[in-house]
Amino acid sequence: GQATRYEAEGSGATCTGTVDTNHSGYSGTGFCNGGNTDSAFAEFTVNASAAGTATLSLRYANGGTTDRPGDLIVNGTRVETTAFAPTGAWNTWTDRTVTVQLRAGANTVRWDPTTAGGLPNLDYLDV
Ligand code: GCU
Repeated sequence: GQATRYEAEGSGATCTGTVDTNHSGYSGTGFCNGGNTDSAFAEFTVNASAAGTATLSLRYANGGTTDRPGDLIVNGTRVETTAFAPTGAWNTWTDRTVTVQLRAGANTVRWDPTTAGGLPNLDYLDV
């Protein structure tokens, strides 16, 4: 079916940092600029009508010159370490798509940065 969009600056998300608007191309009212620290996680509460496989598509921009890796943790279980490679500019957005298992009802989808650079800027999660 059609994806549901969860904005990183939206009420169903936690942005450990600031919601910014200074780089163009974002959806909604801004994007999440997480702090440059390994504790600056981002989390989305995602609703699923039934348990099963779902496709997560996270839109991000990394205008730096190095990866901004983060552990993807779904309902407390680590799924992968997403690399978040440089996208070339802070206004160049790209998607990281991952297939995960969700349960019926509310799910927590979280990225925990693994380095002191923190996460890239995050625009939204489509599920
Ligand atoms: C710059 C950029 C921010 C970004 C930050 C970073 O300051 O303007 O949007 O979040 O770099 O390195 O994380």
